[in-house]
Amino acid sequence: MSPALAFLGVSILGTWGLASIGLIAAGIIMLFFPGDPTTSSSNTLGGIFFLVTGLISGGLMQVVVAPLLGLDAPVPFRARDNKPHAKMTRWTKAGMVRDYTDGMPKEVRLRTQRVLIVRQGEDVYAMSGLCSHARLPLGGLPGSPIKPMAVQDGCVTCPFHGARFAITDGKAVRQPFASSWNNDHPLLGGLQSKLWKVIKYIPMPYQAFPVPKVACPSMGAEDQQTYPVKIEGGEISVGLPK
Ligand code: FES
Repeated sequence: MSPALAFLGVSILGTWGLASIGLIAAGIIMLFFPGDPTTSSSNTLGGIFFLVTGLISGGLMQVVVAPLLGLDAPVPFRARDNKPHAKMTRWTKAGMVRDYTDGMPKEVRLRTQRVLIVRQGEDVYAMSGLCSHARLPLGGLPGSPIKPMAVQDGCVTCPFHGARFAITDGKAVRQPFASSWNNDHPLLGGLQSKLWKVIKYIPMPYQAFPVPKVACPSMGAEDQQTYPVKIEGGEISVGLPK
């Protein structure tokens, strides 16, 4: 991407983001700090309007602008169709093998893409950093209790709802909300699995209109996109799409 295009994109994204945050902040202030009680009913309506508009604007920003910038939007939409390794010819350095803890997945940003690097001894594997279920990061959320989970039986486990993917080919070998996961994780599993079942039955726009597959929420885990990896002199290179 040229620097001018990147600058334009970042400017649009920044302005749009600030406007969204402003709308959300205005909505919260009007709803929860209405000031003069005699005008609180109009404040309530106005607050709801600003809050909803801000949230929609923020969501659209991610869905519309992020892909234009080549970013993988972390929204609960379907994963794009997986590409074969033969098309991954944009080799990008991802550090040294020794930088990665054996058996512990780690998310890195490579040319704006979120990539999960998994080291198994002297072998290294790479797959999309966003889970194909709800597009949440397989590497967890930094600074939160949701952390990456150690590789088990040759699989990466999504720390959000427990889907499992083979590190070699990204195959989804366990779906989210498996009973073993739900029993061990009352909030992320037991409670959310019930909510997820309800969401399935809410009429969504995509059920009434023909919309692209990518814009439909993903109800299950699909196979993860994997990337080819080369190791030369202990240095890792990951093949990304052109
Ligand atoms: S986001 Fe990974 S299993 Fe739901």
